[in-house]
Amino acid sequence: MGAGRALVTGVAGFIGSHLAERLLEEGWEVVGIDAFIDYYPRWMKERNLEPLSSWDTFSFVEGDIMEVGLERFGAGVEVVFHQAAQAGVRASWGQYFQIYTHCNILVTQRLLEFFKDRPLKRFVYASSSSVYGNNPDLPLKETSLPQPRSPYGVTKLAAEHLCLLYHDNFSVPVVSLRYFTVYGPGQRPDMAFHKFIKAMLEDEEFPVYGDGTQTRDFTYVSDIVEANLLAAVRSGVEGQVFNIGGGSRKPLLETIALLEKVIGRRARPVYREPERGDVSHTWANVDQAEKLLGYSPTVLLEEGLMREVEWIKALYKR
Ligand SMILES: NC(=O)c1ccc[n+]([C@@H]2O[C@H](COP(=O)([O-])OP(=O)(O)OC[C@H]3O[C@@H](n4cnc5c(N)ncnc54)[C@H](O)[C@@H]3O)[C@@H](O)[C@H]2O)c1
Repeated sequence: MGAGRALVTGVAGFIGSHLAERLLEEGWEVVGIDAFIDYYPRWMKERNLEPLSSWDTFSFVEGDIMEVGLERFGAGVEVVFHQAAQAGVRASWGQYFQIYTHCNILVTQRLLEFFKDRPLKRFVYASSSSVYGNNPDLPLKETSLPQPRSPYGVTKLAAEHLCLLYHDNFSVPVVSLRYFTVYGPGQRPDMAFHKFIKAMLEDEEFPVYGDGTQTRDFTYVSDIVEANLLAAVRSGVEGQVFNIGGGSRKPLLETIALLEKVIGRRARPVYREPERGDVSHTWANVDQAEKLLGYSPTVLLEEGLMREVEWIKALYKR
């Protein structure tokens, strides 16, 4: 399958913008949509869009997927990369849950309804390791029991189930990718590395929730982008769910030590109680993605952190 017309939802976000840029470089015509949800500042998202706007094969629609007329730009789309979501585990409680059900569940259902009667080659859904919660079955396999610990995780799992339902009932060619903690240039400002690096560059204290022994499987953003391309055009698999990890599982304490090495300055962490919804460990078994998609992560944590540090220096210099 050659390059064609792709829809990237959440295109102004961290992952969506990287993905769109790669697609454009590979000769795709990309239509992107984003509502600039105010979870983090609009200027950061506008900055993510800057490298895309110079391509005349890129078009951007500002709007909420629940409200825009999808007919306007959905026609002719061959592949959907559904990255839009209200992200973040800790903010998903209480009154904010409504935003999560809107952006994560209702939006996904609307897209699936729209595309179920249209010729589509692939619908790639950005799922999350948070569907597993604190499942002790490490490293986590796709067959491990999902047991989300946060309302966010519940919405990501619900949307994943919707994708499978539309595959089984309407033959929508869906693939769900469960991303494990994504990092790199463009990382959202609510995420740990972004906050740690910014604080360290400014020689400030930063909170660490828990005692730092919790582990995460960190995945560099270009590996996530590659997984999307493999799932969309470079493999014939559909109706399946895959773990996409980075092969860099580390305790938070070790990542802070690594950042001290990369930045050349001592960190000033302040340890606090874990927040509701936080999980202790994530660790991906990526055998399925390796076997069926040909996926294998390539960017090591130290290299990836160096690139994120350089990006954060430039981001706040403006
Ligand atoms: N970053 C990670 O570590 C990580 C891990 C697992 C899964 N994911 C998933 O990957 C995807 C991208 O995450 P990200 O970190 O780039 O988040 P992000 O917040 O940077 O990007 C998501 C974008 O979607 C947009 N959006 C949300 N609701 C919308 C709506 N109703 N209409 C139009 N646009 C809307 C937002 O404005 C935002 O720009 C999400 O689905 C997220 O759940 C991310």
